[in-house]
Amino acid sequence: MPLPTAIDDAPTRAEILACLRGDDAAEVAYWLAEADRVRQASVGSIVHLRGLIEVSSHCRRLCTYCGMRAPNRNVKRYRLTPEEILAAARNVVDAGLGTIVLQAGEDPGLTESDIARVIQGIHDMGDVAVTLSLGERNVRELATWRRAGANRYLLRFETSNRKLYRRIHPALRDGQTSRLPILRTLRELGYEVGSGVMVGVPGQTFDDLADDLELFRELDLDMIGVGPYVPDPDTPLGRKTASAGAGPVANDVATVCRVVALARLLLPDSNIPATTALAVLDRKRGYEQALVAGANVVMPNFTPTARREGYRIYPGKAELPGYLDPLFDLEARIRELGRTPGHVRGDSPRFERRRSVPPTMKETDR
Ligand code: 5AD
Repeated sequence: MPLPTAIDDAPTRAEILACLRGDDAAEVAYWLAEADRVRQASVGSIVHLRGLIEVSSHCRRLCTYCGMRAPNRNVKRYRLTPEEILAAARNVVDAGLGTIVLQAGEDPGLTESDIARVIQGIHDMGDVAVTLSLGERNVRELATWRRAGANRYLLRFETSNRKLYRRIHPALRDGQTSRLPILRTLRELGYEVGSGVMVGVPGQTFDDLADDLELFRELDLDMIGVGPYVPDPDTPLGRKTASAGAGPVANDVATVCRVVALARLLLPDSNIPATTALAVLDRKRGYEQALVAGANVVMPNFTPTARREGYRIYPGKAELPGYLDPLFDLEARIRELGRTPGHVRGDSPRFERRRSVPPTMKETDR
């Protein structure tokens, strides 16, 4: 049996563009409902909970959209020690969550050996998956961390429009201009691979988003993170576009949910989070709206409270409650949707399926 990459009645390019533009409310409602149905049929009703630990707010990059960019002096920089990371990880394990996500700016101060040691320490705590989201690290580091037991890696390509990408993500002296080769390396190393984009970046078009969705499929992603661009006044891009993005794509919850729905329809058994930036735009219903439009993952924050304001990729993030906050009734909210909070590792079924197909039957060999 060949490995299907999509259901047979997946939307066409024309349908994708129409849905993204969202001019016809009935059509949009149809695709959102389809995505919810396909989500239920392919990954079920569980909403996987991932414990997010933001381990460092140092970053050597100059991304024009991101508040944590190196030149921004209004960021309280911090780097958790391996012991502090393990203590936060212990909180995740004690809360019964099955995945720990270590996220940071691109910080060379997070060394190959320290991270490897942390990964091993986390695995000693029990059957939990470790996801890394540490930026554009070199092959050697990625290989070491995989050997140490890291299971998954998240690295958004941000936009498939190369010109736009170069504009918002200036190269460093290494001259590296694309994240795509790193995503391929991650796949070769045996990671579950996650990527994604921001929606509503000034200059981004609906055609760009349709290309992004095609690239999700080409990369055969196991995890897909899509969130709204949130302007940060402490960044060059945010200063230019004080409030909303410069269009034509809106950086709002509705547009993001349409991208989430289409991603679900194109890659039915991938893991797709309701991203934090959605909750920043709509504290009460941001997660929920994505969860009923195809998403099946939420990543509650376990970063030590005192550090949170230092992790400033966009404004408003630190004010969100964390999982351990007694007022943050995330699991009850998930149950209210008729769904089940997931306390298992929640590996990507897509990844599992790819692994179980004999090499001779892989799609590339057909
Ligand atoms: N608005 C929305 N998302 C942002 N990110 C970084 N800065 C912003 C912003 N201003 C996203 C990027 C990155 C992820 C960790 O956070 O997509 O990959």
